[in-house]
Amino acid sequence: MGKSTVEPRGFLAILCFAIVGIAPLCAEVPPGPKWLQTAVFYQVYPQSYFDSDGDGIGDLPGITAKLDYIQSIGCNAIWINPIYESPFGDAGYDVTDFYKVAPRYGTNEDLKNLCAEAHKRGMHVCLDLVAGHTSIAHSWFQQSALNQPNHYSNWYIWTPASENVPGSQPFPGENNRSDRYLPNFFPFQPALNYGFARPDSKEPWQLPTSDPSCIALREELKHIIKFWLDLGADGFRVDMASSLVRNDPDHEAISALWHYYRSWLDQEYPEAVLISEWSNPAVAIVAGFHVDFLIHFGQPAYTILLGPLSRPNGFSRDPHAFFESAGGGDIKAFIDSYLKNYTVTKSRGYISMPTANHDMPRPTWGRSEQEVRTIFAMLLTMPGVPFIYYGDEIGMDFLYPAPDKEGGTLGTMPRCGSRTPMQWSKGKNAGFSTAPTEKLYLPIDPSTSRPDVATEEKDPASMLNFTRALLKLRRDHRALANAADFQPVYAEKNTYPFVYLRTTDTEQILVSINPAAQSYSVMLNGLDDATPLLLQGAALQRGRLQMDPVSFGIFAVHARGVSGKLAALKADPRTSLPDDNQLLGTWKLQSLVSEVIATGRRSNPFGDHPDGYLSYSPDGRMYSIVVTEMRPNPHDADPTDEEKPQESMIAYAGTYTANGEAVFYNVDISSNRSWTGTRQLRFYQLDGDILTLTTAPARSPITGQESKFVLVYKKLQ
Ligand code: NOJ
Repeated sequence: MGKSTVEPRGFLAILCFAIVGIAPLCAEVPPGPKWLQTAVFYQVYPQSYFDSDGDGIGDLPGITAKLDYIQSIGCNAIWINPIYESPFGDAGYDVTDFYKVAPRYGTNEDLKNLCAEAHKRGMHVCLDLVAGHTSIAHSWFQQSALNQPNHYSNWYIWTPASENVPGSQPFPGENNRSDRYLPNFFPFQPALNYGFARPDSKEPWQLPTSDPSCIALREELKHIIKFWLDLGADGFRVDMASSLVRNDPDHEAISALWHYYRSWLDQEYPEAVLISEWSNPAVAIVAGFHVDFLIHFGQPAYTILLGPLSRPNGFSRDPHAFFESAGGGDIKAFIDSYLKNYTVTKSRGYISMPTANHDMPRPTWGRSEQEVRTIFAMLLTMPGVPFIYYGDEIGMDFLYPAPDKEGGTLGTMPRCGSRTPMQWSKGKNAGFSTAPTEKLYLPIDPSTSRPDVATEEKDPASMLNFTRALLKLRRDHRALANAADFQPVYAEKNTYPFVYLRTTDTEQILVSINPAAQSYSVMLNGLDDATPLLLQGAALQRGRLQMDPVSFGIFAVHARGVSGKLAALKADPRTSLPDDNQLLGTWKLQSLVSEVIATGRRSNPFGDHPDGYLSYSPDGRMYSIVVTEMRPNPHDADPTDEEKPQESMIAYAGTYTANGEAVFYNVDISSNRSWTGTRQLRFYQLDGDILTLTTAPARSPITGQESKFVLVYKKLQ
């Protein structure tokens, strides 16, 4: 739905369709380690996570010290970016010794200890396997470059100096050959030579994959894998997994190579996992990977959700991404691409769509927390293995500009903004390191409102606790497990929301995601009751799904067991709104603390929270309320009675916790001077300190003053 179709006041698209066939499905669990069925990964960027020895750079003992925290989020596995010896031209993806931990991170013994401590907690540790290249400083390459033929001469791809093959690089040196080498990424990362699938007979430097040198290298990689598995690692994320074999248009030779490693692992290390950076699950998983990342290249799916990475003019946003409040996304294009991969892989492996990684901006970049929560709600309820990038769970920002450190800039893409130190507390260096600030690996986000773990721990409504709540739901409901079935219910071209089911034979969970800054209503015929599990501005009653702007809903649903095909009926704009003023309960205000946290206009036209709606939990505990509101609309020359100034205030709470009978809220309040709707005042009756809540679907943009309130209510009925 394009922005131009959005009416300024109270636009509500009503779409009806019939569910005439949601039969509970039971997916086949993929083969491989059982622990993957419930794995939730946390990606640790080691240099930026926690510095245990005060040198300004994160290290392995620092990660060990934080395992309990990682587990407390709901993650039970970690992937650590490369920790091997390296000159760090590409932050460790330029390895000089595959068998040795870089001193800045500690020792091999520290890694052994980290794995042992993780295992004690029932957690797993995956390392990064940089299989496609080394650093030019690696001794293999230094020997390969020599004039004198030796064991390593063909471990890299050398092209004749006379040919000038595109991309090839010279490597001058008194005793070096005059050939040029092919890099795999940056010029200082020469490609390892696993051979050519279809070598050109006129180019003798193109070796077949069966060449003894290619076989020797293949076995060396096996040796590296074995070395770390024997030390305690549980598997690997494989860097640029598709890059190993050249001239392989059908992926046959590269698939055969990974099949080879996978068959060996299945025999020797059946609990070990291989995760590919390939972004082509239909090929990668079939080739033998247990998990493939679906990310910002390869198959067009992740970029349809979150937008492309290469932004020609710095950082202009793509309004056509699904997770843009502009509402111009196309979820149909996403689902078509996703299903192409999902259907052929669901019984063989897992697709992973991470919250972010060290190569892309964090999801908070240009988005409000409320928008980020819709992203999390989807990514953490989809099938596959979830990956949370360190710091995303507290809503860390993408720092821009950030210094260009260790090959951080890729073309026009600055990557260091996602690599800044983890923010642990309000203490020195955000609790990351005791080093002098100028010695830190990268600067800490200087923002005075930067989030940190310690503060969010104390706030039940924080992003951290929201992430925990989502992951707890995933743990508690079999239908949300990694291999449980997935069925899109409503994913139509250029409109919202995206609705899908996760199912087992005994349970069905419906998820609806609306990142757009406008509301939608969808009729889900064929559904009986729904039990809300976690909501942000969504309601599902008697088959009607009501999605407020920037909202999501996760519901346990009870289908009538009808079978057949889903059919979308045409939009019906006349369908009436749900009943207002339905009594939900009465609460007594026990205490209220307030603090003005901001004044002025919010950058997002709808604010961080489209206020003016009411959401409530299954057991009647509320988490979003309207208390009072300031009116009227100053631009409205002719206000109706309802629009005339009234003493009122709008409140919003992201989540809630219950403390016995008392309900504790952390509430943002905005006094709103621009809204002219007529529904908000039906939300509540405030009589002394008794607050009575009623349902109502209205919403409004926010301008003016914002305050933070903590309200504690006791439920009376
Ligand atoms: C992909 C990694 O994620 C990226 O950080 C690195 O620069 C390249 N591969 C080269 O290894």
